[in-house]
Amino acid sequence: SNGSRVSALVIGSGYGGSVAALRLAQAGIDVHVIEMGMAWDTPGADGKIFANTTSPDERSYWLRTRTKQPLSHFLGFPIDRAIPRYTGILDAEEFGGITVYQGRGVGGGSLVNGGMAVTPKRENFRAILPSVDPNEMYDVYYPRANAELGVRTIDPAWFETAECYHYARVGRKQAQRSGFPFVFVPDVYDWDYMKQEQAGTVPRSALGGELLFGNNYGKKSLQKTYLPQIAATGRVTISPLHRVTSVTPASGGGYTVVIEQLTTTGAVSSAKSVTADTVFFAAGSVGTSKLLVKLKATGALPNLNNEIGKGWGDNGNVMCGRANHIWEPTGCLQSSIPTAGIDNWAAGGAFAEVAPLPTGIETWASFYLAITRNPNRAQFTWNPSTRQVDLNWQTAWKRAGIEMAKSIFDRINAKEGTIYRTDLFGIYKIWGDHLTYHPLGGAVLNKATDNYGRIAEYPGLYVIDGALIPGNTSVNPFVTITALAERNIEEIVANDF
Ligand code: FDA
Repeated sequence: SNGSRVSALVIGSGYGGSVAALRLAQAGIDVHVIEMGMAWDTPGADGKIFANTTSPDERSYWLRTRTKQPLSHFLGFPIDRAIPRYTGILDAEEFGGITVYQGRGVGGGSLVNGGMAVTPKRENFRAILPSVDPNEMYDVYYPRANAELGVRTIDPAWFETAECYHYARVGRKQAQRSGFPFVFVPDVYDWDYMKQEQAGTVPRSALGGELLFGNNYGKKSLQKTYLPQIAATGRVTISPLHRVTSVTPASGGGYTVVIEQLTTTGAVSSAKSVTADTVFFAAGSVGTSKLLVKLKATGALPNLNNEIGKGWGDNGNVMCGRANHIWEPTGCLQSSIPTAGIDNWAAGGAFAEVAPLPTGIETWASFYLAITRNPNRAQFTWNPSTRQVDLNWQTAWKRAGIEMAKSIFDRINAKEGTIYRTDLFGIYKIWGDHLTYHPLGGAVLNKATDNYGRIAEYPGLYVIDGALIPGNTSVNPFVTITALAERNIEEIVANDF
């Protein structure tokens, strides 16, 4: 409530925020988590908490009046449609040169993501987090993150027969015919539940086309892992539909945090301020960067160093589809949870997941999300005339990632005698190069912060989310975000409290 004092305030409830809240609480510290999205614990009119990917409604998007589907077209036709403005679950945040997809709600990105839970290859780690000792990460913190998140790999025998993974087996066959290593991609989805979905004995989630707007069953989001553990400590208060707008040193020590309460149409219903001894920025790469850049520029935290806002990358995300021959169907029933990938990282700078196109009809399409070693990095800056934070990512910077993705798909197309689909992202547009699902950086570890996320200029302020990671993890990022947060909070709890 207004004027109260808290020991630790955590901004955001995604992976970084959940790890911070749990470990602080377990150490006996009272924690208040401020989350601008909704709680996502109450069913809507259809009896379900989350909307289906194929029928978006007000629950689907964060404060938009029109959907912004990552796959904007099908057979060349635009598929976006009007929806009521609401504090929905998926934010398609538009900057000048890129749309950044993010989850909104208690659980952050874990609510909307595909659950692909990949630990980077050890030989790639130096390039991901150069200042972190790989031994401690691979011996302690990656295993801890994998265990807490419930990461599992698909039963390989079931994979061979499951109807819902016919598309992935086609992806494997074509990858292998072109000489690419094919790997299973671990996930936090409950594979036993998926088997029951395939058998028709439980309500369908992954096999019902759920993804992007939340999974009603099956996926172990943070709602099923860290968050129940947090609740069990009895020391953590979570305030959904509350947004932090300012953090500034308080006269009597600690920090004054200004918080706005939001209505479900995005209006500010009240504003309050609390005093916090410590503040953990866990608003995600974009959220944390935007806050810190604004607070530095507007004089709330003027001494923040000049690395704030820098080192932002898109994790090299590009998407594409390929048109298979008529004798190579990919299946009407497709699990929305990808489980396989093509690894050409070392030779071509691309790791491509074989993704579903869960339309419910045969498309003869193979669809992919590629993570590439795109070297371009952008910067967040304060725009005094709009009083907004801008990101200077340029659309043309995706070209580097596309070239890397082509190291895989040009070769597969040549081998198979097939072509790219040109109807999924517009008319005659091959590449989904307008977006990222994996924003990383903006408050880079050991540059904007010390080597554990402490903001040196302001004792008691910490960054503990994807903003710490300088733009690329070579694979999907949330296992690395979680493992790094586990490493940093252990050091912080041991030495700073
Ligand atoms: P995260 O974004 O999770 O959490 C930040 C939270 O802070 C949000 O809940 C936000 O609402 C809140 N917040 C922001 N500003 C605030 C403010 N001012 N005040 C209060 N709260 C605020 N990764 C992966 O490894 N495997 C995958 O399969 C996928 N798939 C995928 C699909 C889609 C559609 C998306 C959008 C993303 C993915 N990702 C993914 C990416 C992954 O979800 C992402 O990297 C992590 O969620 C980032 O974790 P963080 O803790 O950094 O922030």
